[in-house]
Amino acid sequence: MSRGKFITFEGGEGVGKSTNVAFVESYLQSKAIPVVVTREPGGTKLAEKLRALLLDKKSEAITEEAELLLMFAARSQHLKHVIEPALARGDWVICDRFTDATYAYQGGGRNMKISTIEGLENLIQGNLRPDLTLLLDAPVKVGMERAGKRGAFDRFESETLQFFEDVRRAYLLQAELNPKRITLIKASQPLAEVQQAIITVLSPLLR
Ligand code: TMP
Repeated sequence: MSRGKFITFEGGEGVGKSTNVAFVESYLQSKAIPVVVTREPGGTKLAEKLRALLLDKKSEAITEEAELLLMFAARSQHLKHVIEPALARGDWVICDRFTDATYAYQGGGRNMKISTIEGLENLIQGNLRPDLTLLLDAPVKVGMERAGKRGAFDRFESETLQFFEDVRRAYLLQAELNPKRITLIKASQPLAEVQQAIITVLSPLLR
């Protein structure tokens, strides 16, 4: 049995990750590929509890260090209990956000040291990296308008426009530094074109 593929979706708020995660899930299912869809922070009971703490606007002020460590604590549980077993049994895993989000939000947004994030990435993941990352990119204002229509803002969504500009810049830098793994997709183009671009990058993995 060959190992499954690990695909992650990334991008700022309101860029259409959920719609496109669902699209890839049904596309792979139509090719008879077993798929596990999951998200970060989250994906296990404990990791979902950590997610609720991280997104709670009413919590006491969370230090940048605590935020970073909670992200990786959730990731450790998720990898051990969900992602690694699924890949080992040959399932493909589609994950809504993964460690590129840490480089973007905690690195770009919060200005945490990249070398600290790299150290934690190596500690928690060993050699595991996604096989493919789809980075949906749109101007911050476009994304925030879409996110605003979904309901009340959580702790991250309540950040400033400058924070999200920094997040976007850090995501684009991740794409530049990892051109083989990360495909940049313009999220402001019509959905049909976004999905065509996704199929084009997925196809080589299916062979
Ligand atoms: P979302 O998945 O609904 O967009 O919410 C998750 C939030 O958590 C989002 O605002 C980005 C943030 N986040 C980080 O700050 N660092 C991370 O490593 C991950 C996975 C998410």
